[in-house]
Amino acid sequence: MKAHELRQKYIEFFVSKNHAQISGASLIPENDPTVLFTTAGMHPLVPYILGEDHPEGKRLVDYQKCIRTGDIDAVGDPHHLTFFEMLGNWSLGDYFKEEAIDFSYEFLTEVLKLDPSLLSVTVFAGDDDVPRDDVSAAKWLSLRIPEDRIYFLGREDNWWGPAGETGPCGPDSEMFIDTGRPACSDECRPGCSCGKYFEIWNDVFMGYSKMADGTYVPMERACVDTGMGIERTIAILQGKDSVYQTEVFTPLLKMIGELSGKSYGNEEQTDVSMRIIADHVRTSVFILGDQRGVSPSNVGQGYILRRLIRRAVRHAKKLNIEGKFLSELAQIVIAMYQAAYPELAANRDFILKELEGEEEKFSTTLQKGEHEFEKILVNLLKGKARVISGRIAFKLYDTYGFPIELTEELAAEHGFTVDKEGFEKAFAKHQEVSRSGAQQQFKGGLADHSELTTALHTATHLLHQSLRTVLGDHVGQKGSNITPERLRFDFTHPAPMTKEELKKVEDMVNEVIEKDLPVTVETMTLSEAKEKGAIAFFASKYGEQVKVYSVGDFSKEVCGGPHVEHTGVMGHFRIKKEQSSSAGVRRIKAVLEK
Ligand code: ALA
Repeated sequence: MKAHELRQKYIEFFVSKNHAQISGASLIPENDPTVLFTTAGMHPLVPYILGEDHPEGKRLVDYQKCIRTGDIDAVGDPHHLTFFEMLGNWSLGDYFKEEAIDFSYEFLTEVLKLDPSLLSVTVFAGDDDVPRDDVSAAKWLSLRIPEDRIYFLGREDNWWGPAGETGPCGPDSEMFIDTGRPACSDECRPGCSCGKYFEIWNDVFMGYSKMADGTYVPMERACVDTGMGIERTIAILQGKDSVYQTEVFTPLLKMIGELSGKSYGNEEQTDVSMRIIADHVRTSVFILGDQRGVSPSNVGQGYILRRLIRRAVRHAKKLNIEGKFLSELAQIVIAMYQAAYPELAANRDFILKELEGEEEKFSTTLQKGEHEFEKILVNLLKGKARVISGRIAFKLYDTYGFPIELTEELAAEHGFTVDKEGFEKAFAKHQEVSRSGAQQQFKGGLADHSELTTALHTATHLLHQSLRTVLGDHVGQKGSNITPERLRFDFTHPAPMTKEELKKVEDMVNEVIEKDLPVTVETMTLSEAKEKGAIAFFASKYGEQVKVYSVGDFSKEVCGGPHVEHTGVMGHFRIKKEQSSSAGVRRIKAVLEK
């Protein structure tokens, strides 16, 4: 069964069981600042799982695009993906364990025609807080899954969620297919990573909500959330060992083969690079082509996108792929997915243009950077330490545009590690140096922290808060781009702003500037920042602690900086343009005049 048939069959099956098909959401979560991307089908449904009425009713089904960024560095092996599609069905306080398991079993055995004798399941073993899930176990027994294929496991295996840091979660029951491979040990069981058991579906019995303080509060109305990964499932249905052997990836691998003159499946290092390129291009196309798509940048989702593209470009160079190749691969992805995700076709030009732009930007410095890296390596190899210093890692970042993760990967290939703490220090020091106004010229253009851009950075915070005050709290940052000449700010708002609104916002920013308010910075965890009411749209990039910038009492926002020390130095704020950016997103361009 192919991916598109599975998608269709799943939806049809649950529609026949009185579920309403809803459309999947954007990859960029709307109400969850704790993660960068939508990680599961339930993610956009959190408010409904927590009790709000869903306009489509109590039984829902959809397919949802998901990205899990924890997996980026694991991509390269035959199994990991950064982007995947998740099929899901939900009961919002309607049916619970028994019916959910009935549906799962019927779909697996009657629609997918999987042999029930290959099915193993896991259920929650219980702990001090939540009892053992005997109801699910009894249900599986009644479906003739024998006792020795029902495994009771603890929280590490049989507890799901929340999707971000807070929200609905609960015990789950997972379904596995035995691939027939020999068990790796006596302990081998579903959930073991040896490859014998292939996870195919997860039924989560959402009964708890995790709070910001870490406690679990029982929900008033228990819900069912399920998730089936399309790529994994078609691999198992097609009898393939790897998702990369399915039709979702073979056209990409073939094209990469043509471009590089190599073929997939002959040599491990080549295969690793090919898988990295295929996965990263696919994910990049979905990020760029999303209804709330972003461009490559140094923050948030844009930074992940930049890392993916740059890593793909580097692996393409390893395979000796000459010239531009990203858009050729991107077109395969768009063609493959545009029926299920029409936004990809709608954003086609943007996708291709942005990929080419980033590819070009990075290709020119990549070679020089790698050359520099090798020179450094030769020197380091004379000594004993196998560590790249933070200073060097920062230079590669600042001058050659190497994301720190790329330097780490290069280092690892040569048996080195990177002093990441040192890198962060160099990074922070660089910001302070620029903030104090010292004349520093930074090459490479990735981190332009001149006085002008610093002031525009602070102006962006003032603009953001003013928009929220004038228009409402639905206003959220969608994108920010600053050059020495102007700021550009994309934000969620359903309609063009009126003249009056624009004037109010402009006046509000100028009032704060004239008050000469101090700009202060504190460091704290993201959850502390949110408790203090800071605007926080992006998860922290480097570790737990985040910086929170306050402008007097007027604005508080999580941000890497830099900012001016007091607003009086900023000049006069003027909005030059307010226009549409994409559906539901407005764009403001503004300047600071002396
Ligand atoms: N939300 C559950 C998962 O991601 C279904 O596995």
